[in-house]
Amino acid sequence: MDASRKGLTISVILLGTALCSVMLAYFVFGDSNDAEGLRTLRMIAILFRHGDRSPTELYPNDPHQNHPWPGGLGALSEKGSQQMYNLGKNLHMRYYRLLPPNGLYSKDDIFIGSSAAERCLMSAQTFMAGFMPPLESRNPLPIPWQPVAIHAPPRDRDILYAQKQPCPKYDEVLKRLYINPPADIVEINQKNAELYKRLTKETGQNVSTILDVEFLYNTLEIEKNAGLTLPDWTEGVFPDRMLPLAERSLALFTETPFMKKIKGGTIVTDIVDNMVKKRSGLQNRSIFIYSSHDVTLVNFMRAIGIINETSRKPDYAATIVVELHHSVIYEDDFEVKIVYYFNSEDKFPKELSIPNCESPCSLTAFARTMETLIVRNYNEICQIV
Ligand SMILES: *[C@@H]1O[C@H](CO)[C@@H](O)[C@H](O)[C@H]1NC(C)=O
Ligand SMILES: *[C@@H]1O[C@H](CO)[C@@H](O)[C@H](O)[C@H]1NC(C)=O
Ligand SMILES: *[C@@H]1O[C@H](CO)[C@@H](O)[C@H](O)[C@H]1NC(C)=O
Repeated sequence: MDASRKGLTISVILLGTALCSVMLAYFVFGDSNDAEGLRTLRMIAILFRHGDRSPTELYPNDPHQNHPWPGGLGALSEKGSQQMYNLGKNLHMRYYRLLPPNGLYSKDDIFIGSSAAERCLMSAQTFMAGFMPPLESRNPLPIPWQPVAIHAPPRDRDILYAQKQPCPKYDEVLKRLYINPPADIVEINQKNAELYKRLTKETGQNVSTILDVEFLYNTLEIEKNAGLTLPDWTEGVFPDRMLPLAERSLALFTETPFMKKIKGGTIVTDIVDNMVKKRSGLQNRSIFIYSSHDVTLVNFMRAIGIINETSRKPDYAATIVVELHHSVIYEDDFEVKIVYYFNSEDKFPKELSIPNCESPCSLTAFARTMETLIVRNYNEICQIV
C-alpha cells in the first residue's frame, strides 16, 4: 500500500470512528434538544415547582429555632433563585424556537401565571431571567434582563396554582378521608405507631397522621439542605422511613375521581382549552407558565395518571411540560407530548407515555381521554347538595 492510499485509509477510518461516536452518543443520550423533532413545536404549557426555600414551620424542640433564615420563613432561598435561573436556561435550550424573533416579552406570545406565594412569584421571575433574556441588540436596559408580567390571582380565586379557591364539597370529602382513612393508610398508621410516638416525643408536637409526618419531613429536608446538623434522633427515620409516608400524604389530595377533577382537572382544562384554541387560531400565544407547588404537580400528574413515570414527591424546580406539535401524520390536527424535568440540573427531559393515548397522541384523542377531568363550573360542582 503506498503512502497516500494509506493516508486515505486512515482518514476514512478516523472519519468513520468520529461518525460512529456521534451516532453512539445520540443513541446513548436519547433525544437531544436540537433534534429535528422540536421544529414541529407550536405551543407549550410549563408547570413547575418553585425553587429551594426556607421552612414554613419549625417544631417546638427544633435545635435550629433561632437560625436566621434569609427572607424569613417560606421564602425562596439564594440556592432556589439559582435553581430557577438554571432551569430557565435549560428549558431555553429546548424551547427557544417558540420565543418571539425579537426576543422581547409580549403578552401576545406568552402568559405567565403564578401562585400568589412570594416564593412562586420570585421563582417565576428568576426562571424568566434564564429562559428569556433579551437579545443584546434589542435590549433597552444595560443589564441582560427584561421585565415580564406575572399574573397571580388572589388565593381565594385561584383554582390553578395554589388551588385555594374554596370548594366545600372537596373539603368535606378530604375531612372524611382524614377521619376515616383508606385501608392502606390505616395499615401505615398501625405499622408506624411506634414511629409516631417517637416523633411526637422528640419534636414536642403531636405527630399522629401522615400529614404531620409530611410537614416534619419538609422541615428536616430543608434544614439538612441548608447545611444544618440534624438532631441524633433523626438517624434511621429521616429520610428513608418518613419519605413513603410523606408521599402517601401528598397523594391523598387526589384520592377519588372527584378530587382528581377539582385539583388536577382545573389545570388540564386550562391547558386543553389553550391547545384547542391554538389549533383553530382563536388564541396565538405559544407559551403558558404555571409557577406553583409540589402538591400542584402531584395533583396534575395523578389526575392524568403519569406519576408512576416521574416522582411522587417532586424536587424543587421539577417541571412538567405539555408540548403541542404540528403533526405530519394527522391532517388538521396536532400532536401532544408530555415531558418531565426531575430538577433544575436536568438538561434533557424524560418523555412520558400518556395513558389511554397511544403515541403519536393527537390533540383530538388527548382531549377525549381528558373529558372526565374537564371543569366548566367549579363553584357549582363544589356545592354540597
Ligand atoms: C394528636 O392528634 C390526634 C389527631 O388530631 C388526636 O386524636 C390526639 O388526641 C392528639 N394527641 C395529643 C397527645 O394531643
Ligand atoms: C391569530 O393569528 C391569526 C393568523 O395571523 C389571525 O388570523 C387571528 O386573528 C389571530 N387570533 C387572535 C385571537 O389574535
Ligand atoms: C401506579 O403504581 C401503583 C402502585 O405502585 C398502581 O397501583 C397504579 O395502578 C399505577 N398507576 C398507573 C396509572 O399505572
